[in-house]
Amino acid sequence: MINEGVDNSKRQFLTSALTVVGAVGTGYLAVPFLAQMQPSVKAMAAGAPVEVDISKIEPGQLIRVAWRGKPVWILSRTPEALATLKTLDSQLRDPQSQQSSQPDYSKNALRSIKPEIFVAVGLCTHLGCSPTFRPEIAPNDLGDKWQGGFFCPCHGSWFDLAGRVYQGVPAPTNLEIPPYRYITDTLIIVGETTGEKTA
Ligand code: FES
Repeated sequence: MINEGVDNSKRQFLTSALTVVGAVGTGYLAVPFLAQMQPSVKAMAAGAPVEVDISKIEPGQLIRVAWRGKPVWILSRTPEALATLKTLDSQLRDPQSQQSSQPDYSKNALRSIKPEIFVAVGLCTHLGCSPTFRPEIAPNDLGDKWQGGFFCPCHGSWFDLAGRVYQGVPAPTNLEIPPYRYITDTLIIVGETTGEKTA
């Protein structure tokens, strides 16, 4: 059954101002994000590439931007999260992303250009709900096997912090990685690609 609460949140995402959502400890922090982004919100709605300043993203923090009407996540992964990702292959459906959608430069174990910065389309590959960011290890509601990742509450799909789908859940493939490239070390553009090398 589709969770209407999640659908509502998707609508809200598409119609409201952009926000930064940071997950630190047990809480989430939302702050205005408009000042960090170019071009305008109007241009983004039309599908233009989106520049994102990533200089202020703390390790472990996730921000959300909109690109072509879709939520795009940019996550700064911690060293601990990167180490955990190396241990999960046996639990994943497509650990090498052979059946999943990403640019060639993100077709690697971490699914990114740089190891610490993960960029993904925040829509479940089952029926398109937006999964929730759950970086904590073994929370009560998800159980001991949860190693941090993205949880889709619509039908219970699990993804790790590289957007790789677990075995035995409805989602068929890993989360989509959009085209993106680095303009500088702290500025990326989502929606453009230059064939950068893998991480
Ligand atoms: S939309 Fe069905 S599990 Fe995500």
